[in-house]
Amino acid sequence: MDDLIKYRSQFPILENTVYMISNSLGAMPKTVFDKMHEYAETWATRGVRAWAEGWWELPIKAGENIAKILNVNPGEITMHQNVTIAESIILSCFDFKGKRNKIVYTDMNFPSVMYLFEAQKANGAKIEMVKSDDGVTVDTQKLLDAIDEETLLVPISHVLFRSSYIQDVKAIIAKAHSVGAKVILDTYQSAGTVPVDLKALNVDFAVGGVLKWLCGGPGGGFLYVRKDLVSELEPKFRGWQGDSDPFAFRVGEIDFKPDSWKFLNGTPAIPTLYATQEGPRIINEVGVDNIRKKSIHQTEILIRLADENGFQVTVPRESSKRGGTVAFDLPNAYPIARELNDRDFVIDYRPKAGIRVSPHFYTKDDELHAIVDEIKEIIKTKAYEKHLNVKSVVT
Ligand SMILES: Cc1ncc(COP(=O)(O)O)c(C=O)c1O
Repeated sequence: MDDLIKYRSQFPILENTVYMISNSLGAMPKTVFDKMHEYAETWATRGVRAWAEGWWELPIKAGENIAKILNVNPGEITMHQNVTIAESIILSCFDFKGKRNKIVYTDMNFPSVMYLFEAQKANGAKIEMVKSDDGVTVDTQKLLDAIDEETLLVPISHVLFRSSYIQDVKAIIAKAHSVGAKVILDTYQSAGTVPVDLKALNVDFAVGGVLKWLCGGPGGGFLYVRKDLVSELEPKFRGWQGDSDPFAFRVGEIDFKPDSWKFLNGTPAIPTLYATQEGPRIINEVGVDNIRKKSIHQTEILIRLADENGFQVTVPRESSKRGGTVAFDLPNAYPIARELNDRDFVIDYRPKAGIRVSPHFYTKDDELHAIVDEIKEIIKTKAYEKHLNVKSVVT
């Protein structure tokens, strides 16, 4: 008996679709309607007084359920629009003028953050990009060898977005710390589906977003900075939310708050922060350990079905090395993915990965069989042909 099925009624989109795209945009909890209403009601009735009645604190308050999921203290997470901004804030704490000026990362990181690291060359950073040999994994030893006494930062993804490979984060952090480098852990593809314990990892920084496995919607990026670094670091990307006395509207040098607030900057995106909290709240209720158990069960079924039908599996076969997504590559994968979406089997396609299928705690086992049957039917009837000339669409 699948105990987690009971949560399905809390996600409206599950009524009309087979929704297996939680690696991209998790399903919306229906309580978000109430939250958005509450936001509008507050603005409409309280007006500017709302700042003093909770809005100003929201970029910290909205991180509390995320903090629980990542095993850090309430208040240690700050909310930002996205991961690229969160990583920019971290980068702004450093300069690349000294001997320790290297950034080590892998070509399996998410592209948006790679663009940001590459741009640091203009500030004097040396970049070492460790390349994947097979497009699925990253050779841990190669990565460890690249981290040396000149390395300042090692930004890595816990789970790789393209292949769902779980990196050996412990080994990477241990090597980085042994040579005095700092690790930025991107938890976007792990938080909410693979257990993450930032305290136990003793990682320097973590970033992520609530958009995917946390079902929190777009705009809810987050940043964690380890306590000792919070006191030590001074972000140059900063603003009045970090000022210890923001409403004094001081000019010139000011003193910043000593805690996580110093990593905030300008006026927060209040409507988003209302919406983002519901998903993480529900994920805490379901429990990430329960989610992981079910995810392993369902991704194993998908891999078996792919093998039975001759689809090439482009994610690790070993469950302990695989996150919540299974990807299949097969001829015409992109037009097949378009046709699946038209038929309300909601998934996505990524070059070098194929069709990405991401069941979550709300997925029924039956749906796994249904999507594979649908792919077979689309191939048999050549229904994908109408999408052959579609170049690129957003999702
Ligand atoms: C691992 C990872 N990092 C970052 C992002 C997104 O970065 P940003 O929040 O800057 O858009 C994604 C996906 O959207 C991702 O999968």
